[in-house]
Amino acid sequence: MLLSVVVVVLAACAAYVSGERGVGQAGPGTAPSGQASAGPALRDLMPANIRIGAAVDGRLYASDDRYRSTLVTDFNAVTAENAMKWANLQPEPGRYDWTASDQVVALAQSHGQAVYGHTLVWHSSVPSWLSESWSREQLRSALRHHVRTTVARYRGRVWAWDVVNEVLAEDGKLRDSIWLRKLGPTYIADAFRWAHEADPDARLFVNDYGVEGRSRKADGLFKLVRELRAQGVPVHGVGFQAHLRSNTAPIDATSNLRRFAALGVSVAITELDVRIQLPVSTKKLLDQALLYQHMLKACLAVSTCESFTVWGFTDASSWIASHYPGYGAACIYDSDMKPKPARDALLHELRRRVAPSPR
Ligand code: XIL
Repeated sequence: MLLSVVVVVLAACAAYVSGERGVGQAGPGTAPSGQASAGPALRDLMPANIRIGAAVDGRLYASDDRYRSTLVTDFNAVTAENAMKWANLQPEPGRYDWTASDQVVALAQSHGQAVYGHTLVWHSSVPSWLSESWSREQLRSALRHHVRTTVARYRGRVWAWDVVNEVLAEDGKLRDSIWLRKLGPTYIADAFRWAHEADPDARLFVNDYGVEGRSRKADGLFKLVRELRAQGVPVHGVGFQAHLRSNTAPIDATSNLRRFAALGVSVAITELDVRIQLPVSTKKLLDQALLYQHMLKACLAVSTCESFTVWGFTDASSWIASHYPGYGAACIYDSDMKPKPARDALLHELRRRVAPSPR
């Protein structure tokens, strides 16, 4: 089986590198004009109970036809890459600017896409006007106000929220952040309760990176989620960001996801990208494709996996180049909006499920 997967993906790599039509691409006339010919849409092959999403740049979604048509063809969910982060939502104390986030939500709704909210509490993107010199009560009340206001605004329109993002350190203990320092560990449970009050139907997630496979950090997250659930805190899911490198697979991702699911929570792949150390080669594209497929497989293997989201779908606008010098080409479409072998690998995995190949 593994061999057949590698052969298919390798053929896709060869075709992609030589500029030919890739495996999994359909014949003429199947793609709307002006759009990369990519065969069947990923969203059409995804099991009905799992959303397939992409992080989006709202400006491109609104203004770039090729970006939008690829996005709405392949994905039935979106996450605002930056528009819902606190510093962007509330540039000044008391003044919210919903322009960018409202735009993403409206565009998604008009294209039949669900919205995954990202993110309410984070150590990063904290508004600059907010100061650690404030009293504990002042800070707690600012956080409470932010969580309630944001979730209430999108009540019924955002199906899930990353309530807390990246709250763990590499050793699995709680991350040293303004929230932990000033409010103590209870800020996490508080944030979930505030969010739940503001939209009782929203799915509430804890989201982190470096927890996809077995690791100390994943163990710490497991403990945290178990404790929160035992205290009756409304945590409904665990988001595994999955910012990966093409040469490093997470250890035992499927069994790791399963142990979280056994706690009674959903799981989701929330920010998958697979960066390549430049220059790109056929081998690295193959590794990348297999890793995308590996993470999809892990999600499909867990009955409570609710969504599978990539962090940007095109190399033209991925965050990787600016945050990881020397790395790039992390997405499933290239910077020319041409589908890469990684997309073929996802397609292959989904098709295999629809029509399992003979043994
Ligand atoms: C990143 C965005 O992609 C960048 O555009 C921005 O400059 C910084 O944040 N984990 C997260 C995301 O939870 O919010 C981050 O997004 C990537 C890492």
